[in-house]
Amino acid sequence: MDVFRRLLRRPTLELDDIQAAVLRARPEPYFGTHAIIEIVEAAAGKELLRRLVPRVTSAAHWDVPQPSWMALAISYRGLVALGVPPASLVSFPANFRAGMAARAERLRDTGPNAPTHWEAPFGTPAVHLAISVYAENENDWRREVANYELRLRGLTGVRLVSHQDFGATGFNVFGYRDGFSQPVVAGSGAEPLPGDGRPIKAGEFVLGCSSETGHPLAMPAPDVLGHNGTYVVFRKYHSHVAAFNRYLRDNGRTEQERELLAAKLVGRWRSGAPLALTPTEDDPAIGADPNRVNDFDYADDPRGLKTPLGSHIRRMNPRNSKLEVLSDVNIRRIIRRSTSFGEPTTALADDGKDRGLDFIALGARAIDNVEFLQSEWVNSGSFMGLGKEKDPLISLQDKGAYFTVPGTPPRRVHGIQSFNTLRGGEYFFMPSLSAIRWLSS
Ligand code: HEM
Repeated sequence: MDVFRRLLRRPTLELDDIQAAVLRARPEPYFGTHAIIEIVEAAAGKELLRRLVPRVTSAAHWDVPQPSWMALAISYRGLVALGVPPASLVSFPANFRAGMAARAERLRDTGPNAPTHWEAPFGTPAVHLAISVYAENENDWRREVANYELRLRGLTGVRLVSHQDFGATGFNVFGYRDGFSQPVVAGSGAEPLPGDGRPIKAGEFVLGCSSETGHPLAMPAPDVLGHNGTYVVFRKYHSHVAAFNRYLRDNGRTEQERELLAAKLVGRWRSGAPLALTPTEDDPAIGADPNRVNDFDYADDPRGLKTPLGSHIRRMNPRNSKLEVLSDVNIRRIIRRSTSFGEPTTALADDGKDRGLDFIALGARAIDNVEFLQSEWVNSGSFMGLGKEKDPLISLQDKGAYFTVPGTPPRRVHGIQSFNTLRGGEYFFMPSLSAIRWLSS
């Protein structure tokens, strides 16, 4: 049951042409699969799109529960493999055309996060089509997966190069509830909940609509391809949960101290309740209440005494924090559709099992925004006056790194490590349903 569904106003977006993943929140619990396909022959790629398009789910009635849905996205190499005309190919933004691996420096994907260490097929030229299946229960998930596998059958010019299952209860492998602080898209029909702020202009998330600048953002040509589409950033992380557990144990004397430190790192208790509303102890009822879980800002906490300036959520969405380096936070918003895989663990020793998070960001500026977030707000601290301090959860930490918990006196917590390692990723374009038909013709 998705507790974060919102009331409807009359939608003005073309919901039956936009893909469901743009507006549909994942349920709790959720099940699913991310598959990657290589298009070896253009004709087979087009045939696959023809077969899949009836299954690709639109955003119509996005607020009503649905047992399962499918999303489809295409990388730049995928567009080339499909034989998209050169005039159209050059109309895509340069960073999308380059692909994620080529943008490693800008993304600060260096050292263990560098593309040379990625898992296949990421970072290879074979990542063309991404298919994601989301479902509310195991049976519907298996049925939806069987559906796309059926459509692949007998097509020799396309190749399944990876199939990754995911699923969780709504809490990620570190034990935090996640995926619920999202921008409200104007025209989607969503009624903002307390603390959501004003709806963000649809053009920030759907190409062809008016954006925060007052007009639509640049869109790939021809219009039938770009209109109602969006970009997707996919980053697969392996999570070092045992190392995180050890870090908490080493820096907290009691369970209460450890849970407070865990909350300080993220800006929320594991239940989802924000420190801004309940700074000294968890209140799971707030975490589970869609009317309260986002109903806060940082106006009364300029020094970060409640929510540290360097905590993950304050970095990723500073709301009304005073920034040392000015930036319009409304154009930095992303829709997150991240999914967790593997089991959470409370163990202190690594069991070698695969667990982590597929970070998925959607938006008309998703690629620019994630590149900006990675280079400015994740891997640097200067925008908040934090010098070299980095995001405590997702950055690549240097030796001797620390995390500051503001207070009187402030506390520097040493021994922080890279708790998530990048295993691969790619930039995709998520076309509208009419664009998929155009691509298949
Ligand atoms: C393994 C990787 C990651 C983990 C475990 C993680 C975890 C979390 C958690 C627990 C929250 C708070 C709950 C929520 O709002 O959903 C959150 C929020 C958020 N995260 Fe992450 N995250 C990860 C990667 C990333 C990356 C790579 C980015 C962007 C570059 C990002 C951007 C955000 C944003 C924008 C928010 C919402 C902040 C707000 O609106 O208050 N996260 N994340």
